[in-house]
Amino acid sequence: MNAPQDAADLAVAAPSQSPKLFLISWGCQMNEYDSAKMADVLAQSHGYSRTQNPDEADLLLLNTCSVREKAQEKVFSELGRWKEWKAADPRRVIGVGGCVASQEGEALAKRADVVDLVFGPQTLHRLPQLLEQTRSTHRPAVDVRFPEIEKFDHLPAPRAEGPTAFVSIMEGCSKFCSFCIVPYTRGPEVSRPLDDVLVECAHLAEQGVREINLLGQNVNAYRGRMGGDTGEFCDLALLIHYVARIPGIERIHYTTSHPAEFSEALIAAYAEEPKLASYLHLPVQSGSNRILAAMKRGYSREQYLAKIARVRQARPGLSISTDIIVGFPSETEQDFADTLDAIEQAGFDGAYSFLYSPRPGTPAANLKDNVPVELKERRLALLQARIKQRNDDFQLGLVGSTQSVLVEKPARKGVGQVSGRTPQNRTINFDGPESLIGQFVEVLVTEAMPNSLRGRRLVTGP
Ligand code: SAH
Ligand code: SF4
Ligand code: F3S
Repeated sequence: MNAPQDAADLAVAAPSQSPKLFLISWGCQMNEYDSAKMADVLAQSHGYSRTQNPDEADLLLLNTCSVREKAQEKVFSELGRWKEWKAADPRRVIGVGGCVASQEGEALAKRADVVDLVFGPQTLHRLPQLLEQTRSTHRPAVDVRFPEIEKFDHLPAPRAEGPTAFVSIMEGCSKFCSFCIVPYTRGPEVSRPLDDVLVECAHLAEQGVREINLLGQNVNAYRGRMGGDTGEFCDLALLIHYVARIPGIERIHYTTSHPAEFSEALIAAYAEEPKLASYLHLPVQSGSNRILAAMKRGYSREQYLAKIARVRQARPGLSISTDIIVGFPSETEQDFADTLDAIEQAGFDGAYSFLYSPRPGTPAANLKDNVPVELKERRLALLQARIKQRNDDFQLGLVGSTQSVLVEKPARKGVGQVSGRTPQNRTINFDGPESLIGQFVEVLVTEAMPNSLRGRRLVTGP
């Protein structure tokens, strides 16, 4: 008699009955942070749990990037594949978030008719409402506005996943470099209040997080309102000092800073704050003053190099990486030679380098591009070979040194090995039990591999 009721109870209790979310995240660390928040919001509102298998998912989300044309095109080919998945069960919901969604808005749902939800980086907290909306109207639900930093007020408390965590401290970018789509897709710069950021960091520290990476597209433009009605604002340098005082937080990174706003206070933090990692990512984009001006970067090669010299003084042994665009319209052999020279002068030991990709709606997209593609590709290959050599040399220079390593996870290869990162942000693998995960240990660097280091743990005491 009771059987049907019991069966129903069982069905509800069975974990397989909770709705499943399949989520792919492309793009920068801000997108990674946002993707984790999407999963959190949907877990809280509708009990979604994540699956790695799209065949068992009820909701499929794609968090997208439009920084270069290839990244954008990838979105439409992925959605093409998802058609079949939807045809197999039309109740399935497909959503697109991130920068492509922000840029395209309504047009995205028109171009790819499998799409039910279109939301931007600033409206991901509205996913539950958008989901309900599309279910009741059977039409695509679109919201790609930039409501002033509302999203952070609607996100569940942060959940730590391991000893290192991202914390987004500001949204958007107001720099409008002539080649870049980001100010259009993520809106103007808005900083989170200082207390909000500190509370999030403290929550994470309570859950075992030891390393915080403060995120923003132009993170050193951070100006967080300080407590009370003092009318005072906290900059990134001061924020780093505050975060360093949170019990449990032992290492701090920030991404990505802009050279024009790389302040004296931030440089001084490298001398004053030992918890600030010995790793700086400071995108230069080009070593040619002519190209820097055309890019509207707001600094000269000389100003950039002077800042690098000062920060190296503040923190000897600092690892510095950069971003470089090769083949900006009208780039000459001399401009390119200036970039190669700046790499040597700055002493970069790593770089993300890209072929210039015109983005619709940006000022640079209207410039006449007279550099043949083969030439751009040759320049990029040459530059990447130089950078690889510099990275190899830097890693080799670490061999024989002892580094404080935050152990993050079991090593991908090698049973009984764990993997962590040095203060210079280098991955290092060494023999050790998984119980070390989440701890800082002293490791002697014994070998430099192409993309990582090997080491031996120095055991102190009995
Ligand atoms: N906010 C960061 C970078 C954000 S985008 C900064 O200001 O440095 C990440 C990198 O993508 C940029 O540093 C740049 O090197 C590259 N990029 C951005 N737009 C590009 C374009 N149109 N073509 C090629 N590379 C681009
Ligand atoms: Fe783009 Fe420039 Fe803003 Fe960086 S600072 S996100 S390159 S506009
Ligand atoms: Fe891409 Fe948007 Fe980040 S364009 S790099 S996902 S800000």
